[in-house]
Amino acid sequence: MTEKCKTATLQLDGKSIELPILSPTAGPDVLDVRKLYAQAGVFTYDPGYTSTASCDSTITFIDGDKGELLHRGYPIDQLAGKSHYLEVCYLLLYGELPTAVELEDFETRVTRHTMLHEQMQYFFRGFRRDAHPMAIMVGVVGAMSAFYHDSTDINDPWQREVASIRLIAKMPTIAAWAFKYHTGQPFVYPRNDLDFASNFLRMCFAVPAEEYEVNPILSRAMDRIFTLHADHEQNASTSTVRLASSSGANPFACIAAGIACLWGPAHGGANQACLEMLKEIGTPDRIPEFIARAKDKNDPFRLMGFGHRVYKNFDPRATVMKQSADEVLDLLGIEDNPILQVAKELEKQALEDPYFADKKLFPNVDFYSGIILEAMGFPTSMFTPIFALSRTVGWVSQWKEQLADPAHKIGRPRQLYLGETTRDYVDIENR
Ligand code: SDX
Repeated sequence: MTEKCKTATLQLDGKSIELPILSPTAGPDVLDVRKLYAQAGVFTYDPGYTSTASCDSTITFIDGDKGELLHRGYPIDQLAGKSHYLEVCYLLLYGELPTAVELEDFETRVTRHTMLHEQMQYFFRGFRRDAHPMAIMVGVVGAMSAFYHDSTDINDPWQREVASIRLIAKMPTIAAWAFKYHTGQPFVYPRNDLDFASNFLRMCFAVPAEEYEVNPILSRAMDRIFTLHADHEQNASTSTVRLASSSGANPFACIAAGIACLWGPAHGGANQACLEMLKEIGTPDRIPEFIARAKDKNDPFRLMGFGHRVYKNFDPRATVMKQSADEVLDLLGIEDNPILQVAKELEKQALEDPYFADKKLFPNVDFYSGIILEAMGFPTSMFTPIFALSRTVGWVSQWKEQLADPAHKIGRPRQLYLGETTRDYVDIENR
């Protein structure tokens, strides 16, 4: 006897339409409107998808009211404290924490895919030296489909797996080389005897003129930043990847689309915008002026690194990032970093202001990350590329999950049309 499915009844034009209610393992129930147009001849209307579930997924869950973020059921603060990025990548990709043997095999597979096809160097050289690293990443990742033909067939599970590993493994090299190209320094090749985060730091900061010693404090902080950005349900860039994939586009094209979407200052570009804002504020005495601007409806200015579509209590990643900022700056001996002081005072004053409390606006993942990244030596232009390389595993995991669903189909939203109804063409002499 199957359990009777809960339904909601819609009364429309004298008709009653029963809409199934789908129950999750966590989170709100979902009203299944897949047959609504066929049964009632009406669309739902939800620009910005504030009330819309675009898919089902088992990868990440966010409880915005509790400030909870789970990856395959494991809380982000536990993963950030006890795990490391490549283990979290395994968890997101395959659904379970790996055994020691599984982890070693996975890390070896990723390590052996960190080099880029040598010809790709010339792709970088086509850019101006002052090109934003995100522009380079969008271009180079899209171009990977021209270099890695043997992992573009999405219907071949082996090719899907190879493409996944290649993307996770090569993104740090691409991001580091975009940075090196920007600075005019020579590219540094990955090394197989370094862990993921140390490899990235070395590719960014090593120069041929001297040996580069990885600072374990920075390496641990870098790895934690990667973990905190790994995945986040159906955010704008992940939804972009899913929509691109729904047409059957190759994995490199889909991830390039995700990178492009992440670049926006309302999304992944907020970490760069936030540090630039903190620097513009400069000193704690100017904070009230900026808070007033953020509250002014006639001023498009918003506090960068503040607010979130889902979190309405606090962003658990921001909590971990704030702790990490304190630790890293302290361990680096950066006493009284003025920007960190401005950030902490801004957070304090904003959270005491009814405007932000009433609208449930809190620091998000981007509020403190830039402070750590700048202390590590990165320019603001590298903040979003680091977010993109971290999020690649989330995009790839969600991409694989969608392709594995036999019921998935091309995404094709409809619209509320408010334009002209049918009218006849008017010859130019009669206009
Ligand atoms: C990320 O989706 C994800 O999961 C994204 C992400 C991930 O890991 O993938 O978490 C990463 O993108 C984090 C967010 C980074 N962006 C920023 O920090 C930019 C600043 N934040 C805002 O632009 C905004 O808060 C958003 C875009 C993050 C969320 O916007 P929403 O959910 O669409 O909310 P909204 O724009 O409708 O704002 C609700 C109200 C509005 O006022 P009213 O129209 O109701 O009067 O709050 C106000 C907004 O004006 N508001 C802000 C504000 N954010 C929202 N006012 C001042 N400063 C802000 N930062």
